[in-house]
Amino acid sequence: MRPYHCLLLLPVIACASKPPPKPVYSTAETMPHDELVARQTQGHGALPGKPHHGHGGGHHGHGGPLVHRFEKAEDWAKEFDDPARDAWQKPAEVVAAMRITPGLVVADIGAGTGYFEPHLSRAVGPSGKVLALDVEADMVRYLRERAVKEKLDNVEARQVGLSDPGLGQATVDRVLIVDTWHHIDGRKDYAAKLKDGLKPGGLLVIVDFTMEATKGPPKEHRITPEAMIAELEAAGLKAETIQETLPDQYIVIAKKP
Ligand SMILES: C[S@@+](CC[C@H](N)C(=O)[O-])C[C@H]1O[C@@H](n2cnc3c(N)ncnc32)[C@H](O)[C@@H]1O
Repeated sequence: MRPYHCLLLLPVIACASKPPPKPVYSTAETMPHDELVARQTQGHGALPGKPHHGHGGGHHGHGGPLVHRFEKAEDWAKEFDDPARDAWQKPAEVVAAMRITPGLVVADIGAGTGYFEPHLSRAVGPSGKVLALDVEADMVRYLRERAVKEKLDNVEARQVGLSDPGLGQATVDRVLIVDTWHHIDGRKDYAAKLKDGLKPGGLLVIVDFTMEATKGPPKEHRITPEAMIAELEAAGLKAETIQETLPDQYIVIAKKP
């Protein structure tokens, strides 16, 4: 068993047998994450615990996004920050593809335990800013503590909603989304929000698993580069895959005109 498969044993979130009466939420954005996960998985059992990077024991709906919780940051850190990950994730190559110059503002959406934050922090330098965004409160707590511990003074962690990265209008130069796009519901609308948040000429860089990869989410939740490009172009971004050497993933870069 490879080290990044170890978290398959994490407990899944079980739906309570007698839930209290459901409150009414206008959108997924205002709905607590627990509630959204429970509703999206009604009628779907948890998949058997197959080995996937970051997807142990999750809840899944066929054809839709892969929705499950990433609680207990310290546990996830063992997988996300496993030094062996560098060999296939190639963070230096990913960050080089972002064409970051000192002073830029970069948002890392679905930042998790902050695997990319030291790289992004170095790339933007003291005059730049890294917004490390995640839906999980415990990930944000971990990101804040990590930034202090590792003296990443230009990294600011924020909790965001499931369907809104909360970026100010035309405030960021680069957006990075690694191993997270396939978790997002309503991706075309989400892409439009990313476009709004980017400055003109800004870049959105998405890294996700190929259909052939031996790690990653279940195949029914993977997204082909063509489908991803279509989602991004529907939002008015100009998107393309780039040449890279990642063994299990592809990189799509989308530009705000
Ligand atoms: C597989 S992890 C990837 C973490 C990190 N990008 C990395 O490469 O190590 C996915 C992360 O995305 C977060 N996430 C899932 N859906 C999200 C959403 N709609 N907005 C922001 N974060 C989200 C999860 O809480 C989790 O921390």
